[in-house]
Amino acid sequence: MLEGKEIVQGITGSIAAYKGADIASKLTQAGAAVSVVLTESAARFITPLTFESITGKKALSSLWENQPGVNHISLAEKADCILIAPATANIIAKIAGGFADDMLSCLVLARHAPVVIAPAMHTAMYENPVTQKNITRLEDLGFIIVEPGEGHLASGDYGRGRLADTGIILGTVKWVMGKGGDLAGKNIVITSGGTREPLDPVRYLGNRSSGKTGYFLAQAARDRGAMVTLVTTCEPSDEAVGIDVEYVETAREMLSSVNRAVENADCLIMAAAVADFRPAETHGSKIKKGVHELDIHLVSTVDILSQAKGKFIRVGFAAETENLEKGARDKLLSKGLDLVVANDVTQPGGGFGADSNRVSLLYKDGKIEKLSLMPKSILAHRILDAVKSIGLPGSGC
Ligand code: CTP
Repeated sequence: MLEGKEIVQGITGSIAAYKGADIASKLTQAGAAVSVVLTESAARFITPLTFESITGKKALSSLWENQPGVNHISLAEKADCILIAPATANIIAKIAGGFADDMLSCLVLARHAPVVIAPAMHTAMYENPVTQKNITRLEDLGFIIVEPGEGHLASGDYGRGRLADTGIILGTVKWVMGKGGDLAGKNIVITSGGTREPLDPVRYLGNRSSGKTGYFLAQAARDRGAMVTLVTTCEPSDEAVGIDVEYVETAREMLSSVNRAVENADCLIMAAAVADFRPAETHGSKIKKGVHELDIHLVSTVDILSQAKGKFIRVGFAAETENLEKGARDKLLSKGLDLVVANDVTQPGGGFGADSNRVSLLYKDGKIEKLSLMPKSILAHRILDAVKSIGLPGSGC
């Protein structure tokens, strides 16, 4: 979703300036055109050449550099987003006070685009009431602040002030840039991962789902402006910024989270591999191996998709090992679905745990779309396109 987007990244004089290079690199890899602006102090920590090599664009460090057609106004005008990472107490104070005495502060004053600020400084400076007031002022003015992390600081001290992890910063930029996208205002509930049905305090019955498809779907929907609830059995990554994540373990927990979440939903996408059976009894203590045989009595779980009540688009997945289309069509009819994403989990290069998948999309009206093998991150957008083509409630889409 960053393809063709213009991002201006400001780097200021913090020891974390080197981390700015990783951020610039990841933004560039995601398809964004990244123009880097360094303050004079930043250029003492890391050179413009580093950023030029990463982004393929001239990195500016002075208001007085003579670059035809490139100045603070032109950069401010073309930016889709301005990210300042790392941001010192000084640049935060300057922006909060409306100062414009270097390239970065000038372009922030001239901008129309959203500004994401990721502070990095010593705890004492971060917690100083002046800095806190400046941050609050910027938040009140609509700037987005990425809270710094806690940990070891360059001074040897321990405390809050470390530049937030790259994933959190990238997730924030994508979330901010996705606002107003083609799914803006839509409420989408997505499930992911395999449920775990406990047998005793150390063991469970589970499955091989990695949760990747559901997670990519949640990110893709967020990046297109939707409000997303992700009900998942997997630890979400740092990049899940702007996604309402509900962590569950069992089918029963997923059932109650989904039922709560769909109350205002426009769409439910059940990408989770939900256990069909659970142990009838969960032992309170660890089952010891002193027995030669162990019978586990299993009982059915509730089918979450079939019982979810409400007027929203229902998307199910059909993980099959044989008779793919028939199995998927049966699920579409028996569960009252609008769309089924069918995949043969035994195929090479796709299925559980892989980063890519080859699926067929089966629609309620009988249409079938056979998609080629593609990364799950791209597949997520194809599934959302299909949902949109069905017609999300309350919108022109
Ligand atoms: N599903 C669900 N609740 C369950 C089991 C499955 O909501 N208790 C959903 C899955 O998330 C998926 C769809 O139903 O979107 C189909 O799941 P799948 O495991 O492929 O099929 P099942 O319905 O479980 O049937 P079978 O295992 O016999 O193929």
